Amino acid sequence: MVKKSLADAYELNNGVLIPCVGFGTWQSKNGEMAYQAVTAALSCGYRHIDTAACYGNEESIGQAIVDSDVPREEIFVTSKLWNTERGYEKTLAAFQETMRRLKLEYLDLYLIHWPLARGPKEEWSRVNSDTWRAFEKLYAEGYIRAIGVSNFLGHHLEPLMENAKVMPAVDQIEIHPGYRQQEAVDFCKAHNIVVEAWGPMGTGRLLDNEQLKAIGAKYGKSVAQICIRWDIQHGILPLPKSSNPERIAQNAQVFDFELSDEDMRVIDQMPFCGGLKMHPDKVEF
Ligand code: A2P
Repeated sequence: MVKKSLADAYELNNGVLIPCVGFGTWQSKNGEMAYQAVTAALSCGYRHIDTAACYGNEESIGQAIVDSDVPREEIFVTSKLWNTERGYEKTLAAFQETMRRLKLEYLDLYLIHWPLARGPKEEWSRVNSDTWRAFEKLYAEGYIRAIGVSNFLGHHLEPLMENAKVMPAVDQIEIHPGYRQQEAVDFCKAHNIVVEAWGPMGTGRLLDNEQLKAIGAKYGKSVAQICIRWDIQHGILPLPKSSNPERIAQNAQVFDFELSDEDMRVIDQMPFCGGLKMHPDKVEF
């Protein structure tokens, strides 16, 4: 069913509810910028905040959550394990550091930021599974309400799931008009994994797209709003980022219109026209 407000939720495979739009914070710098962005987001109704160890802003984000009038249990907080910290013991230690920076007692969702996917498959899949075992331990001990992955495609998820006791609840991948990642989305949907879209506006690179502007004009909406709404209508959970209070508020106004089937189809068929398109088998970090 199509969602009706920012706090409307999807149910994850373990019954935990995840609000249907998350607030992206990549490139919101630690300090005033990230603190003010999260404060503004919470005050206009976002209830899902997405950060990562490698964004370097967990301290300010945690502080904004702690200082907010919104009760902690009403905010869904995600962070991610960075690539240098993979492996069982290192993951356990990195998680403690993330929690120290966030100053929260529990995390709602912890993601493996990128799969290791270099070298022989047996080796990289073993490292990913060792990392996942640490996630399962932290989950079993109640520090995290749900665990998942980011930037994993089907061929990374398959070996992970073969060795897993707890199935991944979420996969966060780059998705935006012109880059649908349909194969990965279909894989996740078939395995009851909620798909989150990072860079829903192509990390800002789609904002001047004429085709999206023309569609937006029909509804009196901006390109950013069209991109966010397109995800919602596909049952994908977008993570729009902004550090500007007006744009943060604008990106929340996506429940008062509906893209027609025809416009959905037009957007579905757009060729790649901006975004990062970082392939997990090719990245060098
Ligand atoms: P800013 O933070 O200055 O608002 P994505 O979510 O795809 O990663 O895109 C983020 C980029 O898009 C950022 O550069 C952000 O800039 C910009 N942005 C976010 N929302 C809007 C909006 N409603 N209108 C214009 N630019 C936006």
